[in-house]
Amino acid sequence: MEIELPGELVKALRLARNVVVLTGAGTSAESGVPTFREAQTGLWSQYDPQQLATPRAFQRDPRLVWEWYAWRRSLVSEAEPNAGHLALARLAGLFPNLDLITQNVDGLHQRAGSPCVMELHGNIMRTKCFDCGVIIDDYRDPKQPLPRCTVCHGLLRPDVVWFGESLPYEVLSNAFAVTRACDIFFSIGTSSVVQPAASLPFEALKRGALTVEINPVRTPLSPYITYVLSGTSGAVLPDLVQATWPT
Ligand code: OAD
Repeated sequence: MEIELPGELVKALRLARNVVVLTGAGTSAESGVPTFREAQTGLWSQYDPQQLATPRAFQRDPRLVWEWYAWRRSLVSEAEPNAGHLALARLAGLFPNLDLITQNVDGLHQRAGSPCVMELHGNIMRTKCFDCGVIIDDYRDPKQPLPRCTVCHGLLRPDVVWFGESLPYEVLSNAFAVTRACDIFFSIGTSSVVQPAASLPFEALKRGALTVEINPVRTPLSPYITYVLSGTSGAVLPDLVQATWPT
């Protein structure tokens, strides 16, 4: 389904100097990576995050947590970037001052060619020590015995942000800094309910930025947004980039 792109938005995008894009799980949905909160298909409708995505869950049953993350890693490694990821990578080539902030841990933006992605919630393919925090890149599948840190022998865990944990401080403060300075802020494929990411568009609005939401459904953010584009990121983003810079 084609959606009507507002001419004013296309004009504003051509003239914009600083653009910030915030993405969520919906951006990867068309690559076959499940979202979290959608009623039938979202991960949190089938799995209890308290059993799988908290430090306490890991202390209680590291094997169960590892099995779940190994399954999600396999989904991510089989997935390919979709048309939405590719359009954002193209946008980065057109705007030297485009900042891409993602809540996704799947690395698909980077694989599509987007440089300098700010990962607010970590990266599922990276591993770190539960005890000393050292990052161990050469991950082995968690077979018996569970993977251990080469520095302190603590248990290794996926390098993602779990419930009850803080976001990486530098990434987060940088995300707020670029948001405060942008002319246009995009919120794409996110339910806009998880903090602190959900505050970013409000920070942009406070500073007078034009805001755009791309999502097939309305979210709690929609009433505040300048342009709500109702559709999937894989359909809307390529159209928007093409309308703005026809090839
Ligand atoms: P959610 O699952 O909460 O929301 C996904 C959003 O994407 C929904 O609003 C969908 O309507 C929308 N959507 C679905 N398909 C789409 C498509 N093809 N194109 C565009 N939008 C689409 O995911 P997030 O908002 O990313 O955190 O969730 C935020 C955080 O909550 C995640 O990073 C994760 C989760 O708990 C951690 O794991 C720390």
